[in-house]
Amino acid sequence: MSNEPPNTTTDAGIPAPSDEYALTAGPAGPVLLQDAYLNEKLAHFVRERVPDRVYHVKGGGAFGYFEVTADVTQWTKAAFLNEVGKRTPMLARLSSVAGEEGYPDSDRDVRGFALKFYTEEGNYDLVGNNTPVFFVRDPMKFPDFIHSQERMPDTGLRSNNMQWDFWTLSPESAHQVTILMSDRGTPRSWRHMNGYSSSTYLWENAAGKKFWVKYHFKTEQGIQNMTDAEARAMRAEDLDYHRRDLWEAIARQDYPSWRLEMQIMPFEDAADYRFNPFDLTKVWPQKDYPTIPIGRMVLDRNPENFFAQIVQAGFEVSNMVPGIGPSPDRMVLGRMFAYGDSSRYRTGPNYDQLPVNRPINEVHNYNKDGPMRYRHNGNQPVYAPNSYGGPRADPQRYRDPSWFMEAAEIMRTAYVAHKDDNDFIQPGTLYRQVMSPTDRDHLVGNIVWHLSQGVERFIQERAVNDYWSKVDPDLGTRIAHDLGLATPPR
Ligand code: NDP
Ligand code: HEM
Repeated sequence: MSNEPPNTTTDAGIPAPSDEYALTAGPAGPVLLQDAYLNEKLAHFVRERVPDRVYHVKGGGAFGYFEVTADVTQWTKAAFLNEVGKRTPMLARLSSVAGEEGYPDSDRDVRGFALKFYTEEGNYDLVGNNTPVFFVRDPMKFPDFIHSQERMPDTGLRSNNMQWDFWTLSPESAHQVTILMSDRGTPRSWRHMNGYSSSTYLWENAAGKKFWVKYHFKTEQGIQNMTDAEARAMRAEDLDYHRRDLWEAIARQDYPSWRLEMQIMPFEDAADYRFNPFDLTKVWPQKDYPTIPIGRMVLDRNPENFFAQIVQAGFEVSNMVPGIGPSPDRMVLGRMFAYGDSSRYRTGPNYDQLPVNRPINEVHNYNKDGPMRYRHNGNQPVYAPNSYGGPRADPQRYRDPSWFMEAAEIMRTAYVAHKDDNDFIQPGTLYRQVMSPTDRDHLVGNIVWHLSQGVERFIQERAVNDYWSKVDPDLGTRIAHDLGLATPPR
């Protein structure tokens, strides 16, 4: 084997004449249009970007595997979960939400927890966050929520005023904002946070019995967070702290892992549960539905090329394998189209043929052609039905996962209220019963600092009187005091 580096070539493989000099007419003469290699190099350069994800832009990721550790066949027929000890290759992409590429990893934000399982029955994508709940419960409000976290139309600056205006006018956000304003809003690293499906999904076993489920990926590194001061200091020290931390841990073979624990609700429980179990702003209390360990995810391989394998990765909420389906959670249903749509926009209609997105099983269908088509099935018929041996769906074996609904008028309305539906009960429980005194002190400090950065007085007052005091009167009083506002009426 020669130690010589390979000769530079054009993209067509033709040996290139120079890495340094453009073709010119003499040393002082013009650069010639006939310099095919220069033309190709510059033309390719200006096309180096694909559109960013619309949010969750800054992220990182790694490959690894998922291993089943408990028998779950009583709940799902998903093939990749059908045997204890079975391993499935996977990709994880961890991200922050609101900032662009280059934004500080340590800033207060929710973190994305997107997983792709390359199963024998196709790709299963689970697109969750490091929080068990979300800011809104109806997809109609989602773009408005994201706009409020991003930049102002005139100044191009981010605005805490805009964030608090949206949150305090959307009381359903109180649970998620309580978690975001706690130290869990500034995780020490992606390795030190949990991941949650947040949403509820459907599992169906081989006999057709159905269950509602929530996924909890518990970090085996232990939860660790930064304080607000540490997170802000990290801005100046290392913008890419989380991306670097994950890469370096895997490079030194300190492979991060998460234990998958499930909450499983019998199908029939949902209708009469005391609050709507499909409302994404609520958790299922663990005393009602304890978490059951069923598997383990390990990340043990860094990407070889960040752009090809992490930037171009496309996760799709609608990628669910037999045995797994959506639920009446409106936020899941509202996401079923958006993710594939985004990948088509970002990397084109054949995005699933990119190596990082390609399933490990064979693909057979009647989609054809389109930009950058790579995979083909030779002379397979291009229409169904056909007489020439084209692929056939099996409607008996692969029925759509489903649930029953009463005859209903088509309308725009809130969920039907269950007995205990309330936006403030669960964040109040978190504040009073789960957080330690130190957690509570940090929460107050973090909220007060955040509300002090350019938030108008009337929005501060609304945050105290109509939001935090309803989460907990003591919390509201403490925030009012530290902001110099009147004590809210009890
Ligand atoms: P539990 O006491 O059974 O569960 C509380 C859970 O809260 C813990 O298991 C832990 O879950 C999580 N937790 C612990 N410390 C913190 C913290 N400082 N900030 C945020 N979460 C923390 O009670 P319930 O199940 O009745 O839940 C009570 C409240 O706990 C909920 O209203 C919700 O705010 C919060 N919570 C509940 C979860 C659930 O799925 N039931 C999950 C996470 C939070 P973990 O190991 O996932 O961190
Ligand atoms: C990314 C839409 C709610 C978690 C994205 C992307 C879109 C999108 C279009 C970019 C996808 C891509 O280009 O690959 C929506 C819509 C929502 C919604 C329309 C509500 C109606 C949520 C919720 C969660 C979530 C509730 C978490 C529970 C994520 C994550 C990513 C993402 C983690 C980044 C995925 C990655 O790493 O590539 N979302 N989203 N989203 N979304 Fe959502």
